[in-house]
Amino acid sequence: MDFINQMEPWFDDNEANAVHHYMLSGGWVTEFKKTREFEQQIAQFTGAKYCSVLANGTVTLITALVACDVAPGDEVIVPDYTMVATPNAAEILGAKAVFVDVERDTLCMDFDAMRRAVTPKTKAVMLVTVNGRYPRDIERFVSFCKERRIWLIEDAAQSLGSRYNGKHLGRFGDIGSFSFSAPKVITTGQGGALITDNDELIDRIRKVRDFGRERGGVDHYLVKGWNFKFTDIQAVIGIEQMKKLAWRVERKKAIGKLYDKLLAGIPQVELLPTDYENTSPWFFDILVDDRARLQEFLKEKGIGAREFYPPLHAEPVYGRDGHYPVTEEMARKGLWLPSSSSLTDEQVEYVCSMIRAFYRT
Ligand SMILES: Cc1ncc(COP(=O)(O)O)c(C=O)c1O
Repeated sequence: MDFINQMEPWFDDNEANAVHHYMLSGGWVTEFKKTREFEQQIAQFTGAKYCSVLANGTVTLITALVACDVAPGDEVIVPDYTMVATPNAAEILGAKAVFVDVERDTLCMDFDAMRRAVTPKTKAVMLVTVNGRYPRDIERFVSFCKERRIWLIEDAAQSLGSRYNGKHLGRFGDIGSFSFSAPKVITTGQGGALITDNDELIDRIRKVRDFGRERGGVDHYLVKGWNFKFTDIQAVIGIEQMKKLAWRVERKKAIGKLYDKLLAGIPQVELLPTDYENTSPWFFDILVDDRARLQEFLKEKGIGAREFYPPLHAEPVYGRDGHYPVTEEMARKGLWLPSSSSLTDEQVEYVCSMIRAFYRT
């Protein structure tokens, strides 16, 4: 059996043919009609009124914060457990990322911890729907932020295809953000999208991504903006990837259920609860005490695995004090198993049999 990567992008002839056809059609490669078509597809899939696609899922977060007027001196509440792009997006604007702990069963921001962290300087909360899961109190986040006039930005980079009560994740905040980097649910190599139902916010987002221009090609600058634009060549790939999304969502759920079934009953392996009605897991996660040894053993058996994110407050880039017990425990125990939607049942069975062999159960 070939080495099973923890994650890999998945393309077939359709992407290759679409790019070939696009190049022969004389497109300018930069963003244009195909980009607008891809945006339309994402808006339709998520049920959002508007979508704007950008260069990656980090500049989407920066753009969302700029659209919400986040500036030096403001505070932005972020989970300690997330990918580093979330706090970095706030800090690059001179705002302070304020870390709070997450819920143990969902790994999403803890509502009470968030509420305790609010100060008069709080301008935005960045709620990360980690791994397609949603926080227990997602609706309380929405009503609390509305009441306090705090912007709610949902970092749904890992949540394309996941919902809560039928509503797509990314639609609970004022703005939702997605990533299309290589390991994501669908990929355009690099890329990201913002969705919103708010007319003013989409107008600002579209300006910020294009140097702050009044509109395309008009060199009159209404707001500070940069070049965060997408390209049609990525959109051509994205359009093909979108055709496979519904299938991938279901396949990920099926793989997750198979992992849960085959790993159940191993006393040393803790599985986080997953609501498969709503959640299409991006990565398949387990908690174990002897993670390093298990990871090494799996590697010897031809299986890739990846550790969870570290507690960001304590990383050298932030070096902040504080105690975030859930994030710290997750960072110690969390391991992502092979998670590509192209995994076969046989590969999942092999991974689980090797984990059983490691624990001799
Ligand atoms: C939660 C989260 N936010 C933001 C990002 C950044 O996205 P990108 O890699 O497209 O910049 C990622 C990427 O892994 C992510 O997982």
